[in-house]
Amino acid sequence: AADDKFVLEIPKVELHVHIEGTLTLNLRWKLTQRNGTILRLVPNGPELHSLEELHAAMDSIMPDSSRMNNDEERDMFFESYFEGFQALKTEEDYYDLAMNYFEHAASMNVRYCEPFFDPQGHTSRGVSWSNMMDGFRKAQKEAEEKLNIKSSWIMCFLRDHSPESATEHYKAAQPYRDMIVGIGLDSCEEDRRPSLFEEVFAQARGDGFKLTMHCDVDQKNTPKHIRQVVSVVAGEGTDRIDHGLNASDDRSLIDLILKRDMGMTICPWSYLRHTTYAKLGQRIRALYDAGIKITINSDDPAFMDDCWILHNFLLAKHLCGFSDRDITVLARNAINVSWAEQSVKDNIL
Ligand code: ADE
Ligand code: ZN
Repeated sequence: AADDKFVLEIPKVELHVHIEGTLTLNLRWKLTQRNGTILRLVPNGPELHSLEELHAAMDSIMPDSSRMNNDEERDMFFESYFEGFQALKTEEDYYDLAMNYFEHAASMNVRYCEPFFDPQGHTSRGVSWSNMMDGFRKAQKEAEEKLNIKSSWIMCFLRDHSPESATEHYKAAQPYRDMIVGIGLDSCEEDRRPSLFEEVFAQARGDGFKLTMHCDVDQKNTPKHIRQVVSVVAGEGTDRIDHGLNASDDRSLIDLILKRDMGMTICPWSYLRHTTYAKLGQRIRALYDAGIKITINSDDPAFMDDCWILHNFLLAKHLCGFSDRDITVLARNAINVSWAEQSVKDNIL
């Protein structure tokens, strides 16, 4: 449709996408074949022997909210997400993973992006930092030269691992710091408040990294966690919030976020599983109407019905009734709250 053309063509910045969440089933099959690794959808699930079996397995765990509650659905997502890591071993695998994302993003007119990666999910399987980072770097360079898409990485710590492990990984990543613009916090939030990681985040802030943290939607203690993300780290809080949709229900949180002029990365497709369309539209709209710099992103496209940034923009448009002007505001928000150099920001829209 003509109105979709506007959404497709507008130059975009993507700020919330887990590179491991972009591992499509096709690519996973290819890497598994190449490396001769065992393929399963979840850790103790049956071994899968073809791309068709992989697709069928994914379809069978796909959200059927009538069968799974929020917690079950979340746990199943993380099980399948981390099982996907098993396919990644060599430098070429990491190159292929990143290149596959950059190609999808470029086809939707993403001009700059800040993908997340979860190093602990790789080092814990014995993958070297150089396999991971050299593969990413090669793809990043090639994407800039051939696809006209620039990027910088956000290294996330897994919040269900220890703060000590985060610190160890922070130190080990220093040889690659020219590739990394920011530090994030992701994985399962249950009983893992943001302030547990205050020390390593304060150190990263002191070393010049930008900071962001996930506040997943409708978890236990979400409003408390959002408040910590806004204010705790070294007294200043983080620079952006990932998700944080629950702030829409709390005027004092909205005011705090506005006062600090923080960006929020919203991933509409991720929330479909545990809410109604009407409620989701209202929540996104409330943040937008309050004047918060929200941005639209894809999160884990390979685990979300293959829905990438364009689909998330279109979903937001339909949920919230956004006009082309609003879409332009959203695209500009992402430029403004990105951590790109000014010269890059100036040349996007
Ligand atoms: N890691 C990958 N996707 C995630 C999500 N939606 N929430 C928290 N951690 C994640
Ligand atoms: Zn995420």
